[in-house]
Amino acid sequence: MEGKLIRLVLVMIMWHVETSWCSAVDCRREVRCRISYTHRMKAADCFRKEFKEFPKCLPTDIEVLELTYNRIRTVTQDDLSKFSYLKFLYLQDNLISELDDDVFSEMDELMTLDLSINALRSVPATVFQLPSLKTLYLSQNRNINIIDTLEGARPINSPLTQVDISYTTGKEDATEFPYFGPMPFLASLNVSGNQYYSLKPKHFLGLCRLQILITDNVTIDFDDPCDCWIVNKWLLDNEVRFTPFYCNAGRSKCLNHTIPDEDQKVFQQCNAVNAEIQRQHKMYKLSVGLIVFFIVLLLCITLYFTVFRRHCMKHCCKKSTRKTRAKDESIPVSSALLSNTQKSVPNEYVL
Ligand SMILES: *[C@@H]1O[C@H](CO)[C@@H](O)[C@H](O)[C@H]1NC(C)=O
Ligand SMILES: *[C@@H]1O[C@H](CO)[C@@H](O)[C@H](O)[C@H]1NC(C)=O
Ligand SMILES: *[C@@H]1O[C@H](CO)[C@@H](O)[C@H](O)[C@H]1NC(C)=O
Repeated sequence: MEGKLIRLVLVMIMWHVETSWCSAVDCRREVRCRISYTHRMKAADCFRKEFKEFPKCLPTDIEVLELTYNRIRTVTQDDLSKFSYLKFLYLQDNLISELDDDVFSEMDELMTLDLSINALRSVPATVFQLPSLKTLYLSQNRNINIIDTLEGARPINSPLTQVDISYTTGKEDATEFPYFGPMPFLASLNVSGNQYYSLKPKHFLGLCRLQILITDNVTIDFDDPCDCWIVNKWLLDNEVRFTPFYCNAGRSKCLNHTIPDEDQKVFQQCNAVNAEIQRQHKMYKLSVGLIVFFIVLLLCITLYFTVFRRHCMKHCCKKSTRKTRAKDESIPVSSALLSNTQKSVPNEYVL
């Protein structure tokens, strides 16, 4: 009876597998991507393979997916959700114009997302909430609306350290400088080739750990000409590597201009988050160090008591017994170790 039941279940499973196999994509027809290991990560290299849609037959345990230079028009959550180990996703130079809001919602491991050279009009707000995302490339999406995208995405919770939004605004569609709010990890921001009609100190004050600002071929206007001096001074004071903005107004006219209090608050917020992260990092390092130290100490002690003692029993004691037989009176009386082992030798014979 039980055997029959098991057989029935097995048959049903087989049937299910077979039918889903038939209804699924024929993987023998899909272009093959090269699977390899780079930096100990499993990677699928589908560079320039003429994919018109997202590949369906890749191994699901890949960590790197290179899809640069294809003709993919859209990516859905179904396409991506099976790759739960994916850390690096390169979709540069495709024809993607729309992405659903939830397309990256299960990509908890994703660290690098390259969407540059596409036709995106916006970025799903969820991208800015990805828990591991460090690098985001959006360069050369000519019609992308970064301002609206950020409006819906703030506060940004992804630990982004590098953002590239170069060549995303044209001459005709200049925008104000994008406002990110506090981003305590951001180290590098690339805004090359963009046109901005308004830049204020507040645009940088949330970027309290900024190290590099790339502004090649950028045109920028300031609402208040004195903001130019304030921004330059703030970036200099914070040791950001950048090319100072050209200021129209005379500096002497701007000497009594300062950063508004509410903007200062954003700076303080960013610094507070950063200090807290560094404190946690230090504590973590300290505790790991202590644990390692105690483990090593414990190992040393055990090693000492097992190996060295056994060694001593076998060699020192035999030697000493031989010696004692030869020259009984020559035993150094002061040596506690020898006298101890000497005592233990007769016991061994007893056992
Ligand atoms: C910044 O963007 C420009 C234009 O896309 C690019 O040529 C340059 O390499 C980028 N710089 C960095 C450091 O990423
Ligand atoms: C800036 O513009 C010039 C001239 O159009 C171009 O040759 C250069 O590559 C651009 N630089 C960047 C970083 O985009
Ligand atoms: C800056 O100083 C000038 C005079 O030097 C004064 O007229 C102006 O009101 C001051 N502005 C602020 C914001 O304090």
